Amino acid sequence: MSNEQQTQTRIYKPSEEMVKNAAVSGMEAYLALCKEAEDDYEGFWARNARELIEWKKPFTQVLDESNAPFFKWFADGQLNVSYNCLDRNVNNGLGDKVAIIFEADNGEVTRVTYKDLLARVSRFANALRGMGVKKGDRVVIYLPMSIEGVVAMQACARIGATHSIVFGGFSAQALRDRINDAGAVALITSDGQHRGGKALPLKPIADEALSLGGCESIRNVIVVKRTGAQTAMEAGRDQWFHDVCANQSDTCEPEWVDAEHPLFLLYTSGSTGKPKGVQHSTGGYLLHAIMSMKYTFDIKPDDVFWCTADIGWVTGHTFITYGPLACGTTEIVFEGVPTYPDAGRFWKMIQDHKVTVFYTAPTAIRSLIKAADNNPDVHPKKYDLSSLRILGSVGEPINPAAWEWYHENVGGGRCPIVDTFWQTETGAHMITPMPGATPLVPGSCTLPFPGIQCAVVDETGTEVPNGQGGILVVKRPWPSMIRTIWGDPERFKKSYYPDDFKGKLYLAGDGAIRDKDTGYFTITGRIDDVLNVSGHRMGTMEIESALVAHEKVAEAAVVGRPDDLTGEAIVAFVVLKGARPSGEEAKAIIKELQNWVGHEIGPIAKPKDIRFGENLPKTRSGKIMRRLLRQLAKGEEITQDTSTLENPAILDQLGQPLS
Ligand code: PRX
Repeated sequence: MSNEQQTQTRIYKPSEEMVKNAAVSGMEAYLALCKEAEDDYEGFWARNARELIEWKKPFTQVLDESNAPFFKWFADGQLNVSYNCLDRNVNNGLGDKVAIIFEADNGEVTRVTYKDLLARVSRFANALRGMGVKKGDRVVIYLPMSIEGVVAMQACARIGATHSIVFGGFSAQALRDRINDAGAVALITSDGQHRGGKALPLKPIADEALSLGGCESIRNVIVVKRTGAQTAMEAGRDQWFHDVCANQSDTCEPEWVDAEHPLFLLYTSGSTGKPKGVQHSTGGYLLHAIMSMKYTFDIKPDDVFWCTADIGWVTGHTFITYGPLACGTTEIVFEGVPTYPDAGRFWKMIQDHKVTVFYTAPTAIRSLIKAADNNPDVHPKKYDLSSLRILGSVGEPINPAAWEWYHENVGGGRCPIVDTFWQTETGAHMITPMPGATPLVPGSCTLPFPGIQCAVVDETGTEVPNGQGGILVVKRPWPSMIRTIWGDPERFKKSYYPDDFKGKLYLAGDGAIRDKDTGYFTITGRIDDVLNVSGHRMGTMEIESALVAHEKVAEAAVVGRPDDLTGEAIVAFVVLKGARPSGEEAKAIIKELQNWVGHEIGPIAKPKDIRFGENLPKTRSGKIMRRLLRQLAKGEEITQDTSTLENPAILDQLGQPLS
């Protein structure tokens, strides 16, 4: 038995103290919640929705399945998310409590209380209203990690505008496509951003996006001053954030919206076509964001919570902007990167701010393991991490070796790790341990969140026995689920409620296997053409489209291959219009194509490895055999029958990496 296999079978039980104090106290409590939901599914969610949300108008309807799979939750209730995150806490005596501890790239710390955050949000919400932004309008936010990022999102929620965040690492083209698809009326950006000691421009990218055409719906551009870089401002369109907020009132009446009102769109990659605008609701989304904080993170009034995700991803939405604030939590917002000024940055920040609950991605852990191995000064053991009580992992499978290291060196062997499986589309946690209940097995996300009914099925939608791999599905609609794909309801149906499953099961797009004895889930990876690089979701088609848009490229196929650090790495097989290059020429074209993809989509989409062939392996009917490409990318020998291939000799050509 290898080390990896041995560690996989180890079970970590929660400590007695953790069980005693946790919101979900022991397995009996977890099972009781599951049973409550099983016995009365709607009653379970309705009880939580009544207890955890302050409604302007209480709901009387719970789940509406009349137009399945376009499900509705709490449809006749009215609320405001920003009110629930801010006013409610101020009204409950938490006005002077710190809501956000912002640590800048250079280490400067700013603390914002709930009262102050409410005033900032109100001022900006008033400013947006003053510009004519109203309920239902879409607002695109292209901002770095900042207090203003959270303020902008909350301000949109306050006036009922639907925000759509575009990650600051995306290109002008990607930003343009998202603005265009959403038909946004306003764009909020900044002059630049600080990362790893460097000041990087942002507004020029936004300007480029707007100049590409298709963004005519944008009436206002609001620019946060962050780096102080020389910034071109277009008269009549562009205004500084601080100018529009000046002289605004500190109070702003929230727009009360229906529970189904779209709180936000968030674009994510699918297996086909362009990125899709995942549409989330107001009431159901807020409910599950709060429940995930309470159950999975066992959040308590004295906790200092830190989710290291960027607000550009769903994790940053649910676990920076909404979940923690709705629970009246003190949270960290971090501008910088984990390796600046050195790879001890996370550990130093946990020590300085006495972080109690820490939530990050396996890729970050793996890179920090490597850094600590090379430099003992940045090893977590050098820091006082005794404030920590719960650790979280998200975005990709965590390999048992990284899990063990995280548990031992960061958690001091005493903090449970909640390996949370969920997606942009699910809004909040779907399969995850409860820290005071679930015995942990490294590498497994364990059991469904109370109320969530997951299963592993075959191609016909029939449940497979434990121990047999299959397709991960969710059997019943849940409150925080995706409502539709913006502007493309047919694609929503096809992607998530396919006919193969008679439109009854939500298709997550992942494979999974349940343990024979415990029933624990392990996610085995995407079953579609979606890659997960450093926890970032990328569609192979998007990268292929970017490649073939280059003048030298005739054809391209993109696959993933396992990577020790980033989980998966992007490998592109490219046929050029001219002759197949070799040597220095090939190296130069590889660089050129990598930069091209970086410019078209963003640096995260750059292929790590590019191979050139005179053709791609195709069947006689012209279909590219991706299975073979995946094997070639991994450097595996092709052992299977290739007689259906039209051009088997091509495999030798493509098997040789150059870069
Ligand atoms: O493949 C799964 C993986 O990330 C995908 C969702 O990506 P995204 O929508 O960008 O959301 C990421 C953050 C919630 C999933 O389909 N994934 C996410 N969490 C895990 C995971 N794979 C294994 N274990 C996890 N804990």
